[in-house]
Amino acid sequence: QKVKEESVEFLIPSYACQRRTSLDNHNTNFTDALSHLAENAELNNEDGRAVAFRRAAAVLKALPVKVTSITQLRGLPCLGEHSQRVIKDVIENGVSSEVESTIHSERFKALKLLTGIFGVGAKTADRWFKEGIQNLTQLANSGHDLNRAQQAGLEHYYDLNQPVTKAEAEAIGDIVKKAVLDVLPGSEIILTGGFRRGKITGHDVDFLITHPDEGKEVGLVSKVVSWLTARGLLLYQKNTRNSYLESEDGPAQPPSNMDRFERCFSIFKLEKKEIPNRNWRAVRVDLVVSPISQFAFAVLGWTGSKLFERELRRWAGQVKSMSLSSHALYDNKQCKYLRATSEEEIFTHLGLEFIPPSERNA
Ligand code: CTP
Ligand code: MN
Ligand code: MN
Ligand code: MN
Repeated sequence: QKVKEESVEFLIPSYACQRRTSLDNHNTNFTDALSHLAENAELNNEDGRAVAFRRAAAVLKALPVKVTSITQLRGLPCLGEHSQRVIKDVIENGVSSEVESTIHSERFKALKLLTGIFGVGAKTADRWFKEGIQNLTQLANSGHDLNRAQQAGLEHYYDLNQPVTKAEAEAIGDIVKKAVLDVLPGSEIILTGGFRRGKITGHDVDFLITHPDEGKEVGLVSKVVSWLTARGLLLYQKNTRNSYLESEDGPAQPPSNMDRFERCFSIFKLEKKEIPNRNWRAVRVDLVVSPISQFAFAVLGWTGSKLFERELRRWAGQVKSMSLSSHALYDNKQCKYLRATSEEEIFTHLGLEFIPPSERNA
């Protein structure tokens, strides 16, 4: 598990949660190619293939040097035959022919466009594609009944496909803070997701909210949503109540990436004076509320990246016989929950070196 470059050797452990992955990616030519294949596999509902490509890309993201020769890859983990072939193609030809033909195919282009609509997943997009729907006009004219999320997604398609900047995330953070502290003084609000990992743009803004007195946070999301709605700040919202019960959802349940926190998937109407005629833009915002006793797990679970989270859960299960979720960590050998009040403690329970958020960009 080493990469040689001018006699320097780098140790690359096989789980992404065992290594540091900053945003400083020296191998974007390869990781873009592999990510396209992963995306294509996800659009085809081939999850196993998708994860294999994501893991391969993540290994290359973690390398401290630019790969220029296939021999440098010897001994690296997670690089299957298929991924190696793609890398070789990129080294020798500048591009991978498989990637080129994939991303220029009618199917990939259409599915990407359709899943770019908020509320449209791979399965729906595939069904529509099979009916001959390849663009937004065809969808609008198809007579399909869209659900509330999809209607909002179509209406704000352009805005929601524009990257959200850090400044916009902070402006929304100020509004969310005001709303939350107004309806429940003493609450804590943190920015999670990609922005917590140091990204300068994102596809949405993720907030995690808690209160130091356990139980006070119950029902907070709907109060915040009412506050925002009363001020005309929401273009769309879907509110879900907390449905987590430790006794039911803990160790018995298979580890899942879908948590059960009280939450709101929303679209904000963000004031932007510089946009002519309109003076606002639409921005996707996720609001999640956690009880303080689960907050460390929630912060860890909502910081991402998605692959980093997946790898943490895989490490917990396969190496430590533990079940990790955004709510709790359960030790299957000792048959007990392992409590934690910080991310550092969770890494310690898992026998992992602490990886700070900015190094979780796997
Ligand atoms: N997440 C989750 N449950 C969901 C949606 C997301 O636990 N239903 C977690 C993801 O696992 C991820 C984090 O929330 O760790 C942020 O997800 P997302 O906003 O989709 O991705 P980001 O990493 O923030 O990337 P982007 O900048 O594109 O938003
Ligand atoms: Mn570097
Ligand atoms: Mn996000
Ligand atoms: Mn999100």
